[in-house]
Amino acid sequence: METYLVTGAAGFIGSNFIKYMLAKYQDIKIVVLDLLTYAGNLGTIAEDIDGKRCVFVKGDIGDRVLVDRLFDEYPFNYVVNFAAESHVDRSIENPQLFLVTNILGTQNLLDAARKAWITGKDDSGYPIWREGIRFHQVSTDEVYGSLGSEGYFTETTPLDPRSPYSASKTSADLFVKAYADTYKMPVSITRCSNNYGPYHFPEKLIPLIIKNIIEGKSLPVYGNGKNVRDWLYVEDHCKAIDLVLHKGCAGEIYNVGGHNEKQNIEIVKLTIQTIRRLMTEHPEYRKVLKKQVIGTDGQISVDWINDSLITFVKDRLGHDQRYAIDPTKITRELGWTPETTFEVGIVKTIRWYLEHQQWVEDITGGEYMKYYEKMYDNR
Ligand code: NAD
Ligand code: DAU
Repeated sequence: METYLVTGAAGFIGSNFIKYMLAKYQDIKIVVLDLLTYAGNLGTIAEDIDGKRCVFVKGDIGDRVLVDRLFDEYPFNYVVNFAAESHVDRSIENPQLFLVTNILGTQNLLDAARKAWITGKDDSGYPIWREGIRFHQVSTDEVYGSLGSEGYFTETTPLDPRSPYSASKTSADLFVKAYADTYKMPVSITRCSNNYGPYHFPEKLIPLIIKNIIEGKSLPVYGNGKNVRDWLYVEDHCKAIDLVLHKGCAGEIYNVGGHNEKQNIEIVKLTIQTIRRLMTEHPEYRKVLKKQVIGTDGQISVDWINDSLITFVKDRLGHDQRYAIDPTKITRELGWTPETTFEVGIVKTIRWYLEHQQWVEDITGGEYMKYYEKMYDNR
Protein backbone atom coordinates (compact mmCIF):
# COMPACT_ATOMS: atom_id res chain seq x y z
CA MET A 1 0.00 0.00 0.00
CA GLU A 2 1.33 3.47 -0.87
CA THR A 3 1.28 5.99 1.95
CA TYR A 4 1.16 9.74 1.29
CA LEU A 5 1.81 12.76 3.46
CA VAL A 6 -0.22 15.48 1.74
CA THR A 7 0.24 18.92 3.25
CA GLY A 8 -2.23 21.78 2.78
CA ALA A 9 -5.01 19.43 1.67
CA ALA A 10 -7.72 21.48 3.42
CA GLY A 11 -7.06 24.19 0.84
CA PHE A 12 -8.12 24.54 -2.78
CA ILE A 13 -5.83 22.32 -4.87
CA GLY A 14 -4.79 19.93 -2.09
CA SER A 15 -8.42 19.05 -1.31
CA ASN A 16 -9.15 18.41 -4.98
CA PHE A 17 -6.00 16.28 -5.12
CA ILE A 18 -6.90 13.97 -2.24
CA LYS A 19 -10.46 13.56 -3.54
CA TYR A 20 -9.04 12.61 -6.94
CA MET A 21 -6.49 10.18 -5.48
CA LEU A 22 -8.92 8.49 -3.07
CA ALA A 23 -11.38 7.96 -5.93
CA LYS A 24 -8.72 6.66 -8.30
CA TYR A 25 -6.74 4.35 -6.00
CA GLN A 26 -8.39 1.99 -3.52
CA ASP A 27 -5.22 0.76 -1.85
CA ILE A 28 -3.63 3.97 -0.59
CA LYS A 29 -3.39 5.81 2.70
CA ILE A 30 -3.27 9.59 2.89
CA VAL A 31 -2.24 11.54 5.96
CA VAL A 32 -3.26 15.18 5.63
CA LEU A 33 -1.20 17.76 7.52
CA ASP A 34 -2.82 21.19 7.50
CA LEU A 35 -2.63 24.14 9.87
CA LEU A 36 -6.17 25.26 8.94
CA THR A 37 -5.23 28.86 8.29
CA TYR A 38 -7.90 31.21 6.91
CA ALA A 39 -7.54 29.31 3.58
CA GLY A 40 -8.01 25.83 5.02
CA ASN A 41 -11.42 24.37 5.75
CA LEU A 42 -11.85 20.99 7.36
CA GLY A 43 -15.44 20.87 6.07
CA THR A 44 -14.08 20.65 2.52
CA ILE A 45 -12.52 17.25 3.22
CA ALA A 46 -14.71 16.05 6.11
CA GLU A 47 -16.29 13.35 3.92
CA ASP A 48 -12.84 12.10 2.87
CA ILE A 49 -11.41 11.66 6.37
CA ASP A 50 -12.43 8.18 7.45
CA GLY A 51 -9.55 7.50 9.87
CA LYS A 52 -8.46 4.56 7.69
CA ARG A 53 -7.61 5.55 4.10
CA CYS A 54 -7.48 9.21 5.03
CA VAL A 55 -6.32 10.66 8.35
CA PHE A 56 -6.26 14.35 9.32
CA VAL A 57 -3.61 15.98 11.50
CA LYS A 58 -3.87 19.68 12.35
CA GLY A 59 -0.44 21.24 12.46
CA ASP A 60 2.29 23.34 10.93
CA ILE A 61 4.66 22.03 8.24
CA GLY A 62 7.31 24.04 10.10
CA ASP A 63 6.83 22.08 13.35
CA ARG A 64 9.78 19.66 13.37
CA VAL A 65 8.66 17.65 16.39
CA LEU A 66 5.26 17.02 14.85
CA VAL A 67 6.58 16.19 11.38
CA ASP A 68 9.19 13.80 12.83
CA ARG A 69 6.44 12.10 14.82
CA LEU A 70 4.40 11.60 11.63
CA PHE A 71 7.40 10.06 9.85
CA ASP A 72 7.89 7.74 12.86
CA GLU A 73 4.24 6.74 12.82
CA TYR A 74 3.68 6.24 9.05
CA PRO A 75 5.88 4.61 6.38
CA PHE A 76 5.44 7.45 3.89
CA ASN A 77 6.30 6.76 0.24
CA TYR A 78 5.38 10.24 -0.90
CA VAL A 79 5.35 13.74 0.49
CA VAL A 80 3.23 16.05 -1.66
CA ASN A 81 3.69 19.60 -0.41
CA PHE A 82 0.77 21.88 -1.22
CA ALA A 83 0.88 23.78 2.09
CA ALA A 84 1.67 27.42 1.51
CA GLU A 85 0.57 30.97 1.86
CA SER A 86 -0.74 31.28 -1.69
CA HIS A 87 -2.14 34.78 -2.29
CA VAL A 88 0.05 37.40 -3.99
CA ASP A 89 -1.90 40.36 -2.54
CA ARG A 90 -1.44 39.07 1.01
CA SER A 91 2.29 38.60 0.35
CA ILE A 92 2.53 42.29 -0.53
CA GLU A 93 0.97 43.12 2.87
CA ASN A 94 2.97 40.62 4.97
CA PRO A 95 6.03 39.17 3.17
CA GLN A 96 7.55 37.55 6.26
CA LEU A 97 4.73 35.08 6.77
CA PHE A 98 5.40 33.81 3.25
CA LEU A 99 9.04 33.31 4.07
CA VAL A 100 8.23 31.37 7.24
CA THR A 101 5.59 29.07 5.74
CA ASN A 102 6.76 28.64 2.17
CA ILE A 103 10.53 28.51 2.65
CA LEU A 104 11.19 27.40 6.23
CA GLY A 105 8.18 25.08 6.22
CA THR A 106 9.30 23.35 3.02
CA GLN A 107 12.87 23.00 4.28
CA ASN A 108 11.54 21.49 7.52
CA LEU A 109 9.59 18.86 5.56
CA LEU A 110 12.61 18.12 3.37
CA ASP A 111 14.81 17.61 6.39
CA ALA A 112 12.35 15.39 8.25
CA ALA A 113 12.00 13.30 5.09
CA ARG A 114 15.79 13.12 4.73
CA LYS A 115 16.15 11.82 8.27
CA ALA A 116 13.36 9.26 7.89
CA TRP A 117 14.15 7.99 4.39
CA ILE A 118 17.91 7.43 4.55
CA THR A 119 18.96 3.83 5.17
CA GLY A 120 22.76 4.21 5.04
CA LYS A 121 25.68 5.82 3.21
CA ASP A 122 27.65 4.78 0.14
CA ASP A 123 31.46 4.85 -0.12
CA SER A 124 31.45 8.49 -1.20
CA GLY A 125 29.32 9.49 1.76
CA TYR A 126 26.11 9.96 -0.25
CA PRO A 127 22.94 8.76 1.48
CA ILE A 128 21.33 5.49 0.40
CA TRP A 129 17.61 6.11 0.13
CA ARG A 130 14.72 3.80 0.88
CA GLU A 131 13.11 2.39 -2.30
CA GLY A 132 9.85 3.82 -3.60
CA ILE A 133 9.94 7.32 -2.12
CA ARG A 134 9.51 10.79 -3.59
CA PHE A 135 9.31 14.35 -2.22
CA HIS A 136 7.07 16.36 -4.52
CA GLN A 137 6.92 20.14 -4.39
CA VAL A 138 3.84 21.85 -5.81
CA SER A 139 5.21 25.01 -7.32
CA THR A 140 4.02 27.75 -9.60
CA ASP A 141 4.71 29.40 -12.95
CA GLU A 142 5.21 32.66 -11.02
CA VAL A 143 8.80 31.60 -10.27
CA TYR A 144 9.64 32.51 -13.88
CA GLY A 145 8.52 36.12 -13.49
CA SER A 146 6.52 37.99 -16.08
CA LEU A 147 6.29 37.72 -19.88
CA GLY A 148 5.70 40.38 -22.52
CA SER A 149 3.15 39.75 -25.24
CA GLU A 150 5.12 36.84 -26.75
CA GLY A 151 6.81 33.63 -25.59
CA TYR A 152 6.19 30.90 -23.04
CA PHE A 153 7.75 29.65 -19.82
CA THR A 154 9.69 26.40 -20.29
CA GLU A 155 11.45 24.46 -17.55
CA THR A 156 14.73 26.17 -18.52
CA THR A 157 13.39 29.73 -18.40
CA PRO A 158 15.55 31.60 -15.85
CA LEU A 159 13.95 32.06 -12.44
CA ASP A 160 12.91 35.69 -11.98
CA PRO A 161 10.32 35.96 -9.19
CA ARG A 162 8.92 39.44 -8.64
CA SER A 163 6.46 39.32 -5.72
CA PRO A 164 7.17 38.24 -2.14
CA TYR A 165 4.94 35.21 -2.82
CA SER A 166 6.84 34.13 -5.92
CA ALA A 167 10.19 34.86 -4.27
CA SER A 168 9.23 32.52 -1.43
CA LYS A 169 8.06 29.78 -3.82
CA THR A 170 11.28 30.12 -5.84
CA SER A 171 13.38 29.82 -2.69
CA ALA A 172 11.45 26.69 -1.71
CA ASP A 173 12.10 25.20 -5.17
CA LEU A 174 15.79 25.95 -4.76
CA PHE A 175 15.86 24.13 -1.43
CA VAL A 176 14.19 21.14 -3.06
CA LYS A 177 16.88 21.25 -5.77
CA ALA A 178 19.59 21.62 -3.13
CA TYR A 179 18.40 18.44 -1.36
CA ALA A 180 18.44 16.61 -4.70
CA ASP A 181 21.90 17.89 -5.67
CA THR A 182 23.54 17.55 -2.25
CA TYR A 183 21.95 14.40 -0.85
CA LYS A 184 20.59 12.82 -4.10
CA MET A 185 17.14 12.92 -2.55
CA PRO A 186 14.43 11.71 -4.98
CA VAL A 187 12.39 14.86 -5.60
CA SER A 188 10.16 16.31 -8.29
CA ILE A 189 8.63 19.74 -8.87
CA THR A 190 5.58 20.79 -10.86
CA ARG A 191 5.16 24.43 -11.84
CA CYS A 192 1.56 25.07 -12.72
CA SER A 193 -0.35 28.05 -14.09
CA ASN A 194 -3.51 29.55 -12.52
CA ASN A 195 -5.99 26.91 -11.38
CA TYR A 196 -9.75 27.34 -11.14
CA GLY A 197 -12.55 25.02 -10.00
CA PRO A 198 -14.45 23.94 -6.85
CA TYR A 199 -13.22 24.91 -3.36
CA HIS A 200 -11.24 27.93 -4.62
CA PHE A 201 -11.03 30.54 -1.85
CA PRO A 202 -12.92 33.71 -2.84
CA GLU A 203 -9.96 36.02 -2.45
CA LYS A 204 -8.76 34.83 -5.88
CA LEU A 205 -10.13 36.36 -9.08
CA ILE A 206 -12.70 33.83 -10.36
CA PRO A 207 -14.41 32.87 -7.07
CA LEU A 208 -14.29 36.50 -5.89
CA ILE A 209 -16.11 37.64 -9.02
CA ILE A 210 -18.74 34.90 -8.63
CA LYS A 211 -19.24 35.79 -4.95
CA ASN A 212 -19.54 39.51 -5.68
CA ILE A 213 -22.10 38.96 -8.45
CA ILE A 214 -24.21 36.82 -6.11
CA GLU A 215 -24.01 39.61 -3.52
CA GLY A 216 -24.74 42.36 -6.08
CA LYS A 217 -21.39 44.03 -5.40
CA SER A 218 -19.05 45.73 -7.87
CA LEU A 219 -16.40 43.61 -9.59
CA PRO A 220 -12.88 44.95 -8.91
CA VAL A 221 -10.50 44.67 -11.87
CA TYR A 222 -6.92 45.70 -11.15
CA GLY A 223 -5.31 48.29 -13.45
CA ASN A 224 -6.53 48.12 -17.05
CA GLY A 225 -7.63 44.46 -16.85
CA LYS A 226 -5.23 43.47 -19.61
CA ASN A 227 -2.91 41.28 -17.52
CA VAL A 228 -2.92 37.73 -18.82
CA ARG A 229 -3.17 34.48 -16.87
CA ASP A 230 -3.13 30.91 -18.23
CA TRP A 231 -6.09 29.10 -16.63
CA LEU A 232 -6.25 25.36 -15.92
CA TYR A 233 -9.11 23.34 -14.45
CA VAL A 234 -7.93 22.08 -11.06
CA GLU A 235 -8.58 18.40 -11.78
CA ASP A 236 -6.15 18.55 -14.72
CA HIS A 237 -3.49 19.83 -12.31
CA CYS A 238 -4.24 16.93 -9.91
CA LYS A 239 -3.88 14.44 -12.78
CA ALA A 240 -0.54 15.97 -13.72
CA ILE A 241 0.80 15.60 -10.16
CA ASP A 242 -0.37 11.97 -9.99
CA LEU A 243 1.43 11.27 -13.29
CA VAL A 244 4.64 12.98 -12.19
CA LEU A 245 4.65 11.03 -8.90
CA HIS A 246 4.19 7.67 -10.60
CA LYS A 247 5.81 8.10 -14.01
CA GLY A 248 7.95 11.21 -13.79
CA CYS A 249 11.69 11.02 -13.29
CA ALA A 250 13.22 11.92 -9.93
CA GLY A 251 15.14 15.18 -10.06
CA GLU A 252 12.90 16.63 -12.79
CA ILE A 253 10.78 19.74 -13.08
CA TYR A 254 7.56 19.69 -15.11
CA ASN A 255 5.61 22.75 -16.23
CA VAL A 256 1.83 22.28 -16.16
CA GLY A 257 -0.54 24.52 -18.11
CA GLY A 258 -3.27 24.34 -20.68
CA HIS A 259 -2.50 26.99 -23.31
CA ASN A 260 -5.53 28.88 -22.12
CA GLU A 261 -4.38 32.47 -21.89
CA LYS A 262 -6.98 35.08 -21.10
CA GLN A 263 -6.93 38.74 -20.11
CA ASN A 264 -8.49 39.34 -16.69
CA ILE A 265 -11.19 41.51 -18.21
CA GLU A 266 -12.18 38.63 -20.52
CA ILE A 267 -12.47 36.32 -17.50
CA VAL A 268 -14.67 38.80 -15.65
CA LYS A 269 -16.96 39.42 -18.65
CA LEU A 270 -17.24 35.70 -19.36
CA THR A 271 -18.15 35.02 -15.72
CA ILE A 272 -20.87 37.70 -15.84
CA GLN A 273 -22.31 36.29 -19.09
CA THR A 274 -22.19 32.69 -17.87
CA ILE A 275 -23.95 33.43 -14.56
CA ARG A 276 -26.62 35.40 -16.37
CA ARG A 277 -27.11 32.64 -18.95
CA LEU A 278 -27.29 29.90 -16.29
CA MET A 279 -29.82 31.92 -14.29
CA THR A 280 -31.89 32.51 -17.42
CA GLU A 281 -31.86 28.82 -18.36
CA HIS A 282 -32.31 27.59 -14.76
CA PRO A 283 -34.44 30.17 -12.91
CA GLU A 284 -34.06 28.17 -9.66
CA TYR A 285 -30.45 29.45 -9.43
CA ARG A 286 -31.78 33.01 -9.00
CA LYS A 287 -32.74 32.14 -5.42
CA VAL A 288 -29.07 32.31 -4.39
CA LEU A 289 -28.84 35.99 -5.40
CA LYS A 290 -28.53 38.17 -2.31
CA LYS A 291 -29.62 41.19 -4.34
CA GLN A 292 -33.18 40.37 -5.33
CA VAL A 293 -34.72 42.71 -7.91
CA ILE A 294 -38.24 41.80 -8.96
CA GLY A 295 -38.93 42.41 -12.67
CA THR A 296 -42.16 43.58 -14.30
CA ASP A 297 -43.03 39.90 -14.90
CA GLY A 298 -43.00 39.32 -11.11
CA GLN A 299 -39.87 37.11 -11.39
CA ILE A 300 -36.43 37.68 -9.80
CA SER A 301 -34.63 39.77 -12.43
CA VAL A 302 -31.12 39.09 -13.77
CA ASP A 303 -31.05 42.16 -16.04
CA TRP A 304 -28.68 43.96 -13.65
CA ILE A 305 -26.06 41.18 -14.04
CA ASN A 306 -24.06 42.91 -16.75
CA ASP A 307 -20.73 44.64 -17.46
CA SER A 308 -21.81 47.77 -15.56
CA LEU A 309 -20.82 45.89 -12.38
CA ILE A 310 -17.14 46.09 -13.43
CA THR A 311 -15.02 48.67 -11.58
CA PHE A 312 -11.41 49.31 -12.53
CA VAL A 313 -9.44 49.75 -9.30
CA LYS A 314 -5.88 50.61 -8.31
CA ASP A 315 -3.40 48.14 -9.73
CA ARG A 316 -1.55 45.46 -7.73
CA LEU A 317 1.99 46.62 -6.88
CA GLY A 318 4.50 45.03 -9.27
CA HIS A 319 1.63 43.33 -11.12
CA ASP A 320 3.07 40.62 -13.40
CA GLN A 321 1.87 41.29 -16.94
CA ARG A 322 1.54 37.84 -18.44
CA TYR A 323 2.02 34.18 -17.53
CA ALA A 324 1.95 31.46 -20.19
CA ILE A 325 3.15 27.89 -19.76
CA ASP A 326 4.74 25.67 -22.38
CA PRO A 327 3.70 22.16 -21.22
CA THR A 328 5.58 20.32 -24.03
CA LYS A 329 7.78 18.34 -21.64
CA ILE A 330 5.00 16.79 -19.53
CA THR A 331 2.96 16.11 -22.68
CA ARG A 332 5.85 14.49 -24.56
CA GLU A 333 7.34 12.50 -21.66
CA LEU A 334 4.29 11.58 -19.61
CA GLY A 335 1.40 11.96 -22.06
CA TRP A 336 -0.38 14.63 -19.99
CA THR A 337 -2.83 16.94 -21.73
CA PRO A 338 -5.57 19.06 -20.18
CA GLU A 339 -8.93 17.32 -20.47
CA THR A 340 -11.34 20.06 -19.42
CA THR A 341 -11.64 22.98 -21.83
CA PHE A 342 -12.14 26.41 -20.33
CA GLU A 343 -15.65 26.64 -21.81
CA VAL A 344 -16.67 23.46 -19.96
CA GLY A 345 -14.63 24.14 -16.81
CA ILE A 346 -15.96 27.63 -16.16
CA VAL A 347 -19.58 26.42 -16.39
CA LYS A 348 -18.83 23.50 -14.03
CA THR A 349 -17.12 25.90 -11.63
CA ILE A 350 -19.89 28.50 -11.61
CA ARG A 351 -22.58 25.83 -11.17
CA TRP A 352 -20.58 24.39 -8.26
CA TYR A 353 -20.50 27.78 -6.53
CA LEU A 354 -24.20 28.39 -7.16
CA GLU A 355 -24.94 24.99 -5.61
CA HIS A 356 -22.48 25.31 -2.68
CA GLN A 357 -23.26 28.69 -1.16
CA GLN A 358 -23.08 27.18 2.33
CA TRP A 359 -19.41 26.29 1.70
CA VAL A 360 -18.72 29.89 0.67
CA GLU A 361 -20.49 31.19 3.78
CA ASP A 362 -18.62 28.78 6.05
CA ILE A 363 -15.20 29.75 4.71
CA THR A 364 -15.80 33.49 4.50
CA GLY A 365 -16.68 34.53 8.02
CA GLY A 366 -15.75 37.72 9.84
CA GLU A 367 -12.04 37.49 9.00
CA TYR A 368 -12.82 37.48 5.27
CA MET A 369 -14.92 40.63 5.55
CA LYS A 370 -12.11 42.40 7.44
CA TYR A 371 -9.65 41.33 4.70
CA TYR A 372 -12.03 42.47 1.93
CA GLU A 373 -12.59 45.88 3.49
CA LYS A 374 -8.87 46.41 4.06
CA MET A 375 -7.81 45.29 0.57
CA TYR A 376 -10.52 46.88 -1.53
CA ASP A 377 -11.70 49.98 0.37
CA ASN A 378 -8.56 51.95 -0.39
CA ARG A 379 -8.22 50.83 -4.00
P1 NAD B 1 -4.71 27.55 -0.58
O1 NAD B 1 -4.31 28.87 0.00
O2 NAD B 1 -6.11 27.35 -1.05
O3 NAD B 1 -4.43 26.39 0.49
C1 NAD B 1 -3.27 26.36 1.26
C2 NAD B 1 -3.47 25.33 2.37
O4 NAD B 1 -2.24 25.26 3.12
C3 NAD B 1 -4.57 25.69 3.36
O5 NAD B 1 -5.36 24.57 3.64
C4 NAD B 1 -3.81 26.15 4.60
O6 NAD B 1 -4.51 25.91 5.81
C5 NAD B 1 -2.55 25.30 4.51
N1 NAD B 1 -1.41 25.87 5.22
C6 NAD B 1 -0.95 27.15 5.18
N2 NAD B 1 0.12 27.30 5.98
C7 NAD B 1 0.37 26.07 6.52
C8 NAD B 1 1.35 25.58 7.41
N3 NAD B 1 2.30 26.36 7.92
N4 NAD B 1 1.32 24.27 7.74
C9 NAD B 1 0.35 23.45 7.24
N5 NAD B 1 -0.61 23.87 6.42
C10 NAD B 1 -0.60 25.17 6.04
O7 NAD B 1 -3.66 27.26 -1.73
P2 NAD B 1 -3.87 26.56 -3.16
O8 NAD B 1 -4.35 27.57 -4.11
O9 NAD B 1 -4.61 25.30 -2.96
O10 NAD B 1 -2.35 26.25 -3.53
C11 NAD B 1 -1.74 25.03 -3.09
C12 NAD B 1 -0.31 25.01 -3.57
O11 NAD B 1 -0.27 25.09 -4.99
C13 NAD B 1 0.54 26.19 -3.06
O12 NAD B 1 1.82 25.70 -2.75
C14 NAD B 1 0.59 27.14 -4.26
O13 NAD B 1 1.79 27.88 -4.24
C15 NAD B 1 0.56 26.16 -5.41
N6 NAD B 1 -0.03 26.66 -6.67
C16 NAD B 1 -1.27 27.24 -6.66
C17 NAD B 1 -1.85 27.64 -7.87
C18 NAD B 1 -3.22 28.26 -7.92
O14 NAD B 1 -3.65 28.70 -8.98
N7 NAD B 1 -3.97 28.30 -6.82
C19 NAD B 1 -1.15 27.46 -9.07
C20 NAD B 1 0.13 26.88 -9.02
C21 NAD B 1 0.66 26.46 -7.82
O1 DAU C 1 0.06 31.47 -11.67
C1 DAU C 1 -0.13 30.65 -10.57
C2 DAU C 1 -0.57 31.48 -9.38
O2 DAU C 1 -1.92 31.87 -9.65
C3 DAU C 1 -0.46 30.74 -8.07
O3 DAU C 1 0.88 30.45 -7.80
C4 DAU C 1 -1.06 31.58 -6.93
O4 DAU C 1 -1.05 30.83 -5.72
C5 DAU C 1 -2.49 31.93 -7.28
O5 DAU C 1 -3.05 32.75 -6.29
C6 DAU C 1 -2.54 32.64 -8.64
O6 DAU C 1 -1.92 33.94 -8.56
P1 DAU C 1 -2.54 35.24 -9.28
O7 DAU C 1 -2.05 36.44 -8.60
O8 DAU C 1 -2.39 35.14 -10.77
O9 DAU C 1 -4.11 34.97 -8.97
P2 DAU C 1 -5.30 35.97 -8.50
O10 DAU C 1 -6.55 35.18 -8.61
O11 DAU C 1 -4.97 36.65 -7.23
O12 DAU C 1 -5.29 37.06 -9.66
C7 DAU C 1 -5.48 36.71 -11.01
C8 DAU C 1 -5.39 37.97 -11.82
O13 DAU C 1 -6.54 38.79 -11.57
C9 DAU C 1 -4.19 38.84 -11.50
O14 DAU C 1 -3.70 39.43 -12.68
C10 DAU C 1 -4.75 39.91 -10.56
C11 DAU C 1 -6.17 40.07 -11.03
N1 DAU C 1 -7.18 40.41 -9.99
C12 DAU C 1 -7.22 39.64 -8.87
C13 DAU C 1 -8.14 39.90 -7.87
C14 DAU C 1 -8.18 39.09 -6.61
C15 DAU C 1 -8.09 41.44 -10.20
O15 DAU C 1 -8.05 42.10 -11.25
N2 DAU C 1 -9.02 41.69 -9.23
C16 DAU C 1 -9.08 40.98 -8.06
O16 DAU C 1 -9.93 41.31 -7.19
